[in-house]
Amino acid sequence: MNLFGGRTLRQKLALVLWGTALCAFASSGIALAVFQRLTLERRARAIMEPYADLVSVGTDAAVAFEDPVRAQEILDPLRANPEILAADIVLDDGRVLAHVGTRPDASGRVSAPGVYLGNQRVELVRNLQRGAMLHLTMSVGELRRQERQALWLFGAAVVALLAITLGQISVLQRTLVKPIAMLTQAAELVRSRGEYGQRVSASGTDEVARLGRSFNAMMQTVEERENDLRRLLAEQRVLEQALRESDRRKSEFLAVLSHELRNPLASIRTSIEVLPRSPPGSPIAARAWEIMKRQAVHLTRLVDDLLDVMRISRGKIELQRARVDLRDVVRSTCDDFRPHFERGTLQLRLEPMPDPVWIDADATRLAQVLGNLLHNAAKFTPAGGIVTVRVEASGGRAEVSVRDTGVGMEPDEIKRLFEPFAQAEQGLARTQGGLGLGLALSKGLVELHGGSIKARSEGRGRGSEFIVSLPLGPGAPRANAMRSLAP
Ligand SMILES: Nc1ncnc2c1ncn2[C@@H]1O[C@H](COP(=O)(O)OP(=O)(O)O)[C@@H](O)[C@H]1O
Ligand SMILES: [Mg+2]
Repeated sequence: MNLFGGRTLRQKLALVLWGTALCAFASSGIALAVFQRLTLERRARAIMEPYADLVSVGTDAAVAFEDPVRAQEILDPLRANPEILAADIVLDDGRVLAHVGTRPDASGRVSAPGVYLGNQRVELVRNLQRGAMLHLTMSVGELRRQERQALWLFGAAVVALLAITLGQISVLQRTLVKPIAMLTQAAELVRSRGEYGQRVSASGTDEVARLGRSFNAMMQTVEERENDLRRLLAEQRVLEQALRESDRRKSEFLAVLSHELRNPLASIRTSIEVLPRSPPGSPIAARAWEIMKRQAVHLTRLVDDLLDVMRISRGKIELQRARVDLRDVVRSTCDDFRPHFERGTLQLRLEPMPDPVWIDADATRLAQVLGNLLHNAAKFTPAGGIVTVRVEASGGRAEVSVRDTGVGMEPDEIKRLFEPFAQAEQGLARTQGGLGLGLALSKGLVELHGGSIKARSEGRGRGSEFIVSLPLGPGAPRANAMRSLAP
């Protein structure tokens, strides 16, 4: 039978310690008993011999003259010792010359000198002069007392040993069992629940403390790795999502691009077929020319936008900066686009701009941005709508706002608006044409100028506003100087 099988560490330690203590009690108890037994005769002799010596020395003459009175005188002082049960001086013919204590029982008397141990008494027999003998009988009380003393001592030692064992068990419990139990519990939690934040208290220099510290360090590393892994996984998920989204937009873009290219090409092809069959200068020929010209401009615009977006994403666009009055850029762009609006029976309103707004910018690129915004406003505002353009300068910044009364946008559309190829999922946008690049391109260009662009809308059907904000140019003339320069 395996005594230790299936037991806790604490039980094992207690078993070992109690086992050791028990063995110690048993072996020292046995040793004590054997020692007592082995030394019994010697101890009896040690107690009795001084009395026997005393009697032997004084009895020479009394024995020689067989003088009982003298012999009795020598024995009498022994009465003072209650442990001495009897003392006899027996002559060689068996007569008792003197006697103290209990009546002598001559029949069972031993005649050889020595010490004889009984249960209740000890008898010492010694040779005297002329064949006479001394018989000294003592109670075993003294020996028993010595034995009791030894037993008491042994008992005290046992109690001390018990106390020490209990102390040892509690010390081991505190310094060994408890830390290991905590370590086990922590490891268990790590394994079962993945709680990598588990730590154990580990003070001290012994192996258990070192084990605890190593565990803590190991958990620290595992926790860090785990966090790294989680972060990486999260990043990877985001990346994956972004990749999928970009892939989706690209395929969508290809579909839109094909669609956008096919319509103008179809118009151009029809015009090419019509032209040879219509007399030069006829209204039909003129109309065909007009269509071809318009569609070619449209196609060029599409391709230019595409190229520009690619250039911006590669950082390949360089601005031709100069000090320009933003009002001039806005005014001329609006003039260029006015026919566009009138065709759609829309109103384009330019709010009055009293002071010049000097900025350090590439006028052509700014016109491109503004053109995109106007183009969109015209595209997404139904007939009869109004588009308002406003220029403002305040707090070191110039702002151009293009507001329309058109189809408007939902808040979540606004968030994606400035990403390339982003278009609202609406039937109208599709039928309006466009690659979804205008705003991305505008944002890129504005940011190259150190500015920003944002969109606002109260919701679907409630119009939109696009605001371009640009830093005012360095060394822009002060307010009064601006006024004097104004045309
Ligand atoms: N003024 C506007 N009113 C409503 N929606 C607009 C307006 N301007 C832009 N949008 C939305 O933003 C999308 C992206 O515009 P843009 O980048 O210019 O691409 P495109 O004009 O080729 O569609 C448009 O498809 C449309 O959904
Ligand atoms: Mg557009």
